[in-house]
Amino acid sequence: MSPKRGDRSASQAAAEAPGPRPARDILRPPAEVLYADELRRLAADDREARPRGWALSPRAVRDFILGDEARGLQPKFVGPAAVVERVIVGLLGSRGLMLVGEPGTAKSMLSELLAAAISGDSTLVIQGSAGITDEQVRYSWNYALLLARGPSPEALVPSALYRGMRDGKLVRFEELTRCSQEVQDILVSILSEKLLQVAELGAPGSLFAARGFNVIATANTRDRGVNEMSAALKRRFNFETIRPIADLAAETALVLRESEKILAAAGLPPPRDGALVEALVTIFQELRAGRTREGATFERPSTVMSTAEAIALFCSACQANHSFGRGEVSPGDVVGHLRGTAIKDAEEDATRVHDYFRTVVKARAETSELWAAFYEARERIAAG
Ligand SMILES: Nc1ncnc2c1ncn2[C@@H]1O[C@H](COP(=O)(O)OP(=O)(O)OP(=O)(O)O)[C@@H](O)[C@H]1O
Ligand SMILES: [Mg+2]
Repeated sequence: MSPKRGDRSASQAAAEAPGPRPARDILRPPAEVLYADELRRLAADDREARPRGWALSPRAVRDFILGDEARGLQPKFVGPAAVVERVIVGLLGSRGLMLVGEPGTAKSMLSELLAAAISGDSTLVIQGSAGITDEQVRYSWNYALLLARGPSPEALVPSALYRGMRDGKLVRFEELTRCSQEVQDILVSILSEKLLQVAELGAPGSLFAARGFNVIATANTRDRGVNEMSAALKRRFNFETIRPIADLAAETALVLRESEKILAAAGLPPPRDGALVEALVTIFQELRAGRTREGATFERPSTVMSTAEAIALFCSACQANHSFGRGEVSPGDVVGHLRGTAIKDAEEDATRVHDYFRTVVKARAETSELWAAFYEARERIAAG
């Protein structure tokens, strides 16, 4: 067919055609691209036995995830080594892995790192939602080919799950509990039989999972409950609860590290005031737990005060100050941004956060200039 008048030029179309894009132009490269160099080195130095279908030994997977600065491995997931070791060993067995926890505790991040290290591919992802269908989870058809030739392997459009089974890779199922029971039930047979049948193709349509295949699911405890999963499906997973970071120094270092990356990507200078970030993380940890570091308890706000939110809050404050020429971020700026994080839907949360400032922050303000500046800014929480 000759192009019609007004059609875009062939070169224009070629320039816009989807295709491999240089890694530097990708907004968020997957972990196996971002850490390609670390993975290559780990594989080259790996002297331990690799489970069949795995790209690395369990020990190398652990080192990749936790990081080891002496060996040039960036710290990634911050959490107990025992949790990381348990999830790795769990994936060697016949059960899937279910990561549960509060929002923003790095469940998705951990599942991405596991898939990148074990399968060299973290992109086989099914995003769970109420509207997800059987076809999106198992396989669908190219209807033009299906009508022309009938059911054939060429007309089959494999899902992420299908490809993981076929190629022996980990498949990530995000927010599994948001899916209907029918969709969840597909996993019951797949995790027990390790077999996916394409009824339309008859016997040749039986896909037996290759070694290396397994499922890592995540579920958010604030969403529709894990309790609504059927007992049959629960039995097919090892559950691991991912808890918020409890250690102040570790969480502060993480917020500084991640903020630096985000700010650098936006062309902004790195955060300079470590003490300010430590105070911010202290506020988050205390509001999250409803307990001060001195041990006093108070009523905590109902919203999630995750590490991810602390990073987002700090970066927004830096970005706002930079955009409007206000210089370094001050405690007042942080308090101003706290409103949007700590008080999302429940107005009584505003009172709780305010009470926290009137008691806990006030007491610290007597001996610390930094905390005094936080206290001075307390009215910005109530301000709309
Ligand atoms: N323990 C942690 N180690 C490293 N990074 C963390 C940790 N906790 C939170 N983060 C930061 O929070 C970000 C968000 O994490 P992620 O999206 O994986 O959370 P999630 O638990 O899947 O949340 P949700 O339940 O909302 O999907 C991470 O990319 C990371 O920057
Ligand atoms: Mg997630």
